[in-house]
Amino acid sequence: MSCGACAAGSSMKNQLDRIKEVALKDLENLRTLAELETARVQALGRSSELSQFLRSLKERSEDERRELGALANRIRGELEEQFERAKERLEDLAYAALEKLDVSAPGMKVQRGHVHPLTQVQDDINAIFASMGFRIVEGPEVETEWANFDALNTPPDHPARGMQDTFWLQGMQHLMRTHTSPMQVRFMQQHQPPFRIIVPGRVYRNEATDATHEFQFHQIEGLMVTRTGPGAPSMANLKGVMEHFYQRFFRDPNIEVRFNASYFPFVEPGVEVYIKGSSGKLAGKWLEVAGAGMVHQNVFEHVGYVRGEMQGFAFGMALERMAMLKYKIDDIRLFNGGDLRFLRQF
Ligand code: PHE
Repeated sequence: MSCGACAAGSSMKNQLDRIKEVALKDLENLRTLAELETARVQALGRSSELSQFLRSLKERSEDERRELGALANRIRGELEEQFERAKERLEDLAYAALEKLDVSAPGMKVQRGHVHPLTQVQDDINAIFASMGFRIVEGPEVETEWANFDALNTPPDHPARGMQDTFWLQGMQHLMRTHTSPMQVRFMQQHQPPFRIIVPGRVYRNEATDATHEFQFHQIEGLMVTRTGPGAPSMANLKGVMEHFYQRFFRDPNIEVRFNASYFPFVEPGVEVYIKGSSGKLAGKWLEVAGAGMVHQNVFEHVGYVRGEMQGFAFGMALERMAMLKYKIDDIRLFNGGDLRFLRQF
């Protein structure tokens, strides 16, 4: 080997040492597989200093090519091995992070929902009336003025018609029903007595909310009608049905029922139903729980029956009031408040 070649050769060897040193130092600082790939391309890729070095060897003498080429390739092999090792190490770390899943930890409890208290009470009520032979029917919440008021013998100047009590729909032809009584009308238009039905459902009143009033609540309407004659439903039968219902609903066989004369345009006579129990919240004092009466002959006429041919009673009560009395709830707003501390008690 000539001396000139020696000098040039040793500076080139230094270059190779430096390349190796830089690449190994880079390797120490790698923390992700992506960083590793970048560093690997930088050290060993086509435009890396090492590749350029190898390409430049063709301009060298054969001796230099052989010696420096062998050295460069050995360094390349070493670096490839180091990168491979670094890759394995980083992959192990990545898997270890995944394995932080602790299979012995207790599972997450799935919360199970349940039936809303109002629905539970409605189901109870339906079951009691069904056992007395009442059929359960439902009707529309958007009603005609005729079914909600006129057909029910409710005069145009009745206060319930006012803007205060009622949600009218645009055009004043339809409204959100203010009670379930319009289903008396709809059902009788389509059926001939005898029948007995209850009609559970939502009703609407345009009023301010407080502990005992909501603008939307539920009623249960009752209607029993047959042809006039012996055995036709009477006030006494109405009282018997009410008594049986309240005794079973409140699980209190000592509940008494009292009728107070009252006025609803679609019944005659009309009454307010009061109950008094023997224990708990129902003990000792009379509570108003429903409106009721004998169906007015004008109503029968409006639905197409012949005046005097039919006889029956009707009643209406609020679902929320029943639930509040039964479970000693003192604020009607709790039902729709969405407070789970309340709902989970049922
Ligand atoms: N619809 C009446 C109300 O909402 C209740 C009622 C129903 C009264 C049936 C008598 C007969 O107040």
